[in-house]
Amino acid sequence: MSERTLVLVKPDGVRRGLVGDVIARIERKGLKIVALELRTLSAETAEQHYEEHRAKPFFGSLVEFITGGPLVALVVEGPRAVEAFRGLAGATDPVSAAPGTIRGDHALEIQENIVHGSDSTDSAEREIKLFFPDLF
Ligand code: CMP
Repeated sequence: MSERTLVLVKPDGVRRGLVGDVIARIERKGLKIVALELRTLSAETAEQHYEEHRAKPFFGSLVEFITGGPLVALVVEGPRAVEAFRGLAGATDPVSAAPGTIRGDHALEIQENIVHGSDSTDSAEREIKLFFPDLF
């Protein structure tokens, strides 16, 4: 059964010219891109997107980072797309992310970790609604 996930190439990834690399990996894996947009998030949208992290000590810094420049938001579709993209992204902490993954190949900082991928099908639905309300 096909499912959808929300992928963000975060402002660090856009700034460093890694959009093409991320898209190439998604396509090479066989996942399908069904929506794509370059945009700069408002603080309000960023806070909604990262709602579950509101109480964390890094929340303010995360919102500042994610609104600090344009990002690329994508909706990606395929069999178990949530898990498939998280495999491509690698562990949240790029230092321990496996080489061959996006974070393992390109990053060292936990906040500036290039990409976001929804962590469950429920999160994916909520996040896709926030970024692409017209897709439903
Ligand atoms: P993401 O997968 O988008 O989910 C939450 C984000 O918060 C994460 O990627 C990182 O960008 C950031 N993050 C997670 N843990 C930390 C941390 N300990 N310090 C700073 N930022 C973090």
